[in-house]
Amino acid sequence: MTLDTLPALDRRTALVSAFTAPKGFGDQTLRERRADAIELLGGIPDPAVLPARELAEATARVLSQPGLPALQYSRTEGIPALREWIAAREGVPVSRIVVTNGGFHGLALAIQTTVERGDLVAVDNPIFPLFLRGLELSAGRTLPVRVGAHGIDIEELSGLLKGGARPAALYTVPDFHNPTQGSLPLEGRRELVRLAEHYGFVVFADNPYRELRFSGRAPKEEPFNHSERVIHINTFTKTLGPGLRLGWLVLPESLTPDIVALRSRQDSHSSTFVQAVVAELLTQDPGLFDRTLDRARATYASRARTLAEAIDREAPGAFDVEVPGGGLFLWPRLRDASVDADRLAADASAEGVEYQRGAFFPSGPGTDAARHLRLAFGDTSQDQLTEAAARLGRALQRQRA
Ligand SMILES: Cc1ncc(COP(=O)(O)O)c(C=O)c1O
Repeated sequence: MTLDTLPALDRRTALVSAFTAPKGFGDQTLRERRADAIELLGGIPDPAVLPARELAEATARVLSQPGLPALQYSRTEGIPALREWIAAREGVPVSRIVVTNGGFHGLALAIQTTVERGDLVAVDNPIFPLFLRGLELSAGRTLPVRVGAHGIDIEELSGLLKGGARPAALYTVPDFHNPTQGSLPLEGRRELVRLAEHYGFVVFADNPYRELRFSGRAPKEEPFNHSERVIHINTFTKTLGPGLRLGWLVLPESLTPDIVALRSRQDSHSSTFVQAVVAELLTQDPGLFDRTLDRARATYASRARTLAEAIDREAPGAFDVEVPGGGLFLWPRLRDASVDADRLAADASAEGVEYQRGAFFPSGPGTDAARHLRLAFGDTSQDQLTEAAARLGRALQRQRA
């Protein structure tokens, strides 16, 4: 019996169980761990740098507005006050902004409007694996492209395109890449846009870490906001909190109607209430967002340094560790080829520190991700990070003994 001839309920069960489980974010996040385990697992912002008091005040103001517009339906594209704030920050017309329920939702919308069943999609290698989950629904095929210290490898991509590859879309994280931490420089961004326009694919530029830059300069312009071939995806997750489930798309004019049409057949719009609170927060005190970011950047910069220094101290010579210029992760590489990275993760867990193995992230062969560890430092105190490094050092000793 094929899927088509199954009764409806069985068909649904068969489809859901056909999803390959779980692509990344599976084993470490689910397995048993010590009660005192230090978790360096997710890119989670520190609660202390989120503007909780200001959100509470904004909520009270929103709920005292006559007629309670925040508790009513609103437009599919998002409420005007929030779209206007985002458009001004992105430097694009309001008509190109659609508010989403966070970055992953933005990715899902981008995939669903662009990728047909069986289409080829060029992707980061290694990759943020949730993208692959989203792509699974559209049965897209992947074309891995190496990601390095300067983001996605434009030369490799160019070679693949010249060789005849014809992707419908390309997925990349351009700033403080998850997991490798590289950023694509301005010239690389321009070239990527040129390639997309020449070969006719759509770039999904997924940019949740852009605002968390703590060293170096941002590109002086953003080519991703000025092409008919780019969907620029962003979120308030890393800056105001993932629980808000609020993000946005900067869309080419030509794609906005498709995304709005799709959305109006799904959830209609993001929560009016959450949008209204965040718009109130951002517009009532125009400096608040940047002050919030400054606090966050200072915290993450010193955590990144503390963790990198502690690893050098506790496991001298064992890793190549670079302090990234932003974001929420360290991506140290094991130098000694005789160290078994899987066993190290298991020993680290026994010592009481949990992290994502680099082996979770590859989207194809040809990367050394399996020799890396992804260590998230966003929501862990300096003391705990120092202790985590000591535990990692002890885990390493187990193999060296
Ligand atoms: C690269 C990347 N894209 C998208 C997301 C998802 O963001 P959101 O929580 O807003 O859905 C994350 C979150 O960790 C991420 O790292």
